[in-house]
Amino acid sequence: MNQSTVEKLALEREIEELQARYSNANPRSRVHLSTARQVLPGGNTRAALHYDPFPVFIESAEGARVIDVDGHSYMDFANDLTAGFYGHSHPVILAGIRSALDNGISFGGPHRYEEALAKAICSRFSSIERVRFGNSGTEANLMAIGLARAVTGRPLVLAFHGGYHGSFANYLGAEMPLNVDKPRLRFARFNDEEDVRRVLEKDGAQTAAIIIEPMMGSGGGILADPTFLANLRVIADECGALLIFDEVQTARFSPGGLQDLVKVRTDLTTLGKSLGGGLTFGALGGRADLMDRLDPSLPGAIGHGGTFNNNVLTMIAGQVGLTKVATAEALHGANARGDTLRQSLLAAARARGPVLSIGAYGSILSLHFQPKAPRNPAEIATTPVQRKLFQLDMLLRGFYVQRRGTINLSLATTDEDCTAFTEAFGGFLDRYSAFLPS
Ligand SMILES: Cc1ncc(COP(=O)(O)O)c(C=O)c1O
Repeated sequence: MNQSTVEKLALEREIEELQARYSNANPRSRVHLSTARQVLPGGNTRAALHYDPFPVFIESAEGARVIDVDGHSYMDFANDLTAGFYGHSHPVILAGIRSALDNGISFGGPHRYEEALAKAICSRFSSIERVRFGNSGTEANLMAIGLARAVTGRPLVLAFHGGYHGSFANYLGAEMPLNVDKPRLRFARFNDEEDVRRVLEKDGAQTAAIIIEPMMGSGGGILADPTFLANLRVIADECGALLIFDEVQTARFSPGGLQDLVKVRTDLTTLGKSLGGGLTFGALGGRADLMDRLDPSLPGAIGHGGTFNNNVLTMIAGQVGLTKVATAEALHGANARGDTLRQSLLAAARARGPVLSIGAYGSILSLHFQPKAPRNPAEIATTPVQRKLFQLDMLLRGFYVQRRGTINLSLATTDEDCTAFTEAFGGFLDRYSAFLPS
């Protein structure tokens, strides 16, 4: 047997052993999956929550912890894939929701809470003069794209390879059958101005918008270069297209989102996840002259409905969360905590040998077992097996993490939680360094 076969067999044995430990530790979750399978495809209704051999089923959550059906209490470092940024069941948000419950939760008419949330958003994001609500980030992005097409009268939209704008606008990899609108999309490489110019040289006059996550979330926690984003603004203006930032994940980085940190003024911005205070939420905001095309009192208004767009509970949870929980101080504190954790994890890896790079920004950290952080998804070299070792081992150590290796802090995460995470990560490295690149 040659060296690589020996290594492969050793890795297989290690995975088998880890998987057996994980299965033995989680008997109730295992059973839950098989019963859920009878009524849900694969026991699942949100693909991102699936991982093999089976996910732990969650029973409850509070503050910075989630508890699974087998009684394990985890420190939560996934935080609902960034949507749980305010921490679980924040008392101030719960009080807001409770105060609403006896007053009716679905009015079927306009009300003051939607204006209050809209005001909170418009006062924080300098490019947002008007806002319209929906039920998810996906909806917000589809609305943004549709509005851009309607106001420019152009059919095409430029997006980026590896981008994720929702379940029907998923450009992560292989062709997604559920994606809408495939023939009218064009793609360029993330962080590559020349590639954007190449695409637009041909199609610029027909392009309604450039849509981008200023930090790729699902695509690997990859931050866009500030210069690249600034150049997109220039390029969009040159060809008469609108610039849309999908800030569904990145709005948390400062009160005015990532766009405020890089000082790029967008035409339209999409929001979602934590900004709904933990309830179902999405929003599109932007320039008044564009957004006012949705004003139903105007002739030729663009129609946009949605039964739950102004759901009372969401509007209240969102407004309370934004004004009372996600203060500028809290956001900056979370970013600083994330930066400290970043340094500690890098030091833990350096001390033990495996290579580690950490992408993303502030309170979101994206771990890659490779020497340099990727600048676009094609540069990700960490393998699915390495991701599996990391996730299952960290779960067994009591830390709730995603398979994709992204760590999302919440406002409930403490310095002590981060220290404990670093120690556990050291334990993971001690055990599995032989299977990670050095
Ligand atoms: C950047 C980004 N945009 C859009 C979405 C879609 O949001 P939702 O899942 O609420 O439809 C997501 C969700 O992961 C996201 O990360």
